[in-house]
Amino acid sequence: MKSAPVLAILSLLPAGSFASWAGNINYLSPSMHHPSLGISIRRVAKRNVPGTEYTPQQLNFTHGVASGDPHASSVILWTRAAPMMHSVNDDGAVTGLSPMFWHGPEVTSTAPVCVEWKVAKDKAMKQTVCNGKAYTSSDIDFTVKVEAKHLKPFTNYYYQFNICNSNIKSPIGRTKTAPGENDHLARARFAVYSCAFYAYGYFNAYGQSARKDSVDYVLHLGDYIYEYARYGYTGEGPDIDRVPQPEHELFTLYDYRERFATHRTDEDLLLSHRMFPWIATWDDHEVANNAWRDGHFKMNNTENTFIEDDPVSVGQRKMNAVRAYFEWMPIRQVDMDDNLRIWRSTAFGDLVDLVMLDTRHYDRSITTLWYNDDYISKISGEPNRSQMGPRQESWFFRQLSESHKRGTTWRLVGSQTVFSYLNLGDPSEPDEPSFRLDAWQGYTASRNRTLHHLYSNNIPNNIVLAGDSHASWVSDLVWLNSTDPDPRPEDHPDYDPRTGRGSIGVEFASTSVASPGIGGWDPKREETQEKSDLFIKTNPSLQWTDQHHRGYMELDISHEKVKTTYFGIPSVLSRNRKEIQMAQFEVYRDENKVHRPAGGFNTKSGSAKKYPKV
Ligand SMILES: [Fe+2]
Repeated sequence: MKSAPVLAILSLLPAGSFASWAGNINYLSPSMHHPSLGISIRRVAKRNVPGTEYTPQQLNFTHGVASGDPHASSVILWTRAAPMMHSVNDDGAVTGLSPMFWHGPEVTSTAPVCVEWKVAKDKAMKQTVCNGKAYTSSDIDFTVKVEAKHLKPFTNYYYQFNICNSNIKSPIGRTKTAPGENDHLARARFAVYSCAFYAYGYFNAYGQSARKDSVDYVLHLGDYIYEYARYGYTGEGPDIDRVPQPEHELFTLYDYRERFATHRTDEDLLLSHRMFPWIATWDDHEVANNAWRDGHFKMNNTENTFIEDDPVSVGQRKMNAVRAYFEWMPIRQVDMDDNLRIWRSTAFGDLVDLVMLDTRHYDRSITTLWYNDDYISKISGEPNRSQMGPRQESWFFRQLSESHKRGTTWRLVGSQTVFSYLNLGDPSEPDEPSFRLDAWQGYTASRNRTLHHLYSNNIPNNIVLAGDSHASWVSDLVWLNSTDPDPRPEDHPDYDPRTGRGSIGVEFASTSVASPGIGGWDPKREETQEKSDLFIKTNPSLQWTDQHHRGYMELDISHEKVKTTYFGIPSVLSRNRKEIQMAQFEVYRDENKVHRPAGGFNTKSGSAKKYPKV
């Protein structure tokens, strides 16, 4: 991070006030170097007069607390301290119709909201280890994001905010730092989530890990929100009192803020944020469906899309979404000169290096947009196509190599979309597409380059985690030489599907928290089971799949093995605590494949490969 511009701003502010403004890193977020993505603290400070507007009693912590992006000595803490539940309905700074930093008469902030925060070793908040003060205002939707520093590695802490000079306090959150990069770590546990469509169900899955207190960290692979209008998805969904706001499709900054605010009312999501530090990345719906570098499904800066769909341009919509994401998520600014970058890595001692990718928005070649499916199908193997752009891709490969060189046991890769080859064709529906070209399958050169990098550098113990598909999949990580649905051994001379020989790792793809899969919001067991059985037959590297349940997965990682447990939520139509343990898989160190237990896979749902007893 460059410090010179910050110092220049500092010198223009009244003494003492800068710390409180700049202490809230959302003013600089995600990039103070981009006109739509950073706020002029100097101008905000000039407009706001401390102590002149809100009394503490007018303010509330409206959307709980959250923490995220743990480092060995610091962690991000988040809250929102506002005079109202709703988001700030002002896009003056981004529509171009109003002067920059004009904020409409109803919401213009003329006094900062002052918030104090502290971190303690104990739940009673007596043994304070650090504290601070930060301002927030309408400019950033009254969100507060601070970095708690000088903490000890791999340690639980508790944190709380209060309105300055008052007894109005936020809930107490718990968080945990990461271990030091060179520390020995014996065990780490992660819950993995994706795809939480508010209108389709309650986020029970988020609450389950929190109630069991079964993990150290939460990983989120995206689709934390969806941009659709109320009736804009595959149907209205059941009437379960879950109507996300605003009811129209998201375009403006206010739209995205308000959608985050709706999601952050779900009790189980609030609980998870309060209990665990999150490491999150976005998928397409944090901006719009089937996103790529220069557009999205039904919006590509063409004349038609401007006339029919777009109150704003593709670029402006993306900036609005990105800004709201940074305001509302407990995520660090990764690169102040690169406002779109959220791809980043975190070291968990000598046990795990976690690489979180952005295969959607950063620099992604064009994807399927329905009208161009035939074209994308033809070009999906083009070597110059990339899921993530050359800058991210070379960084990604470097991370994998350096992690191996450092001697870290496991490499975890957070990918939005499913990495493995999956033939989804159904002989009874020959007109339906067989491949999801919006996933890595539409970018086979990107996938092959990744596999080539792992094979040619002998990088072992790779675990890919994926979301997006709204179903559960476990696959050997392997380069398939043939896409024949009924492969003969000679089709894959380098891979033996029976033993897993030739595989270079494992992919665990997780189902959705609430978004519908096959069969919509009320799937029929026969239909989903039929699909699970079919996919197991037609995909050589696929070891298990469940097409029925919403849910999540938990990874329990030691140096000896990764144990992954898939949990299914039987119903998301009400808030409830029911779950089933659908399946459990192990990956032993240096085996680089899904472990085949002698008695067969341990599954209670879905469909698994069956191997003859040896
Ligand atoms: Fe999704």
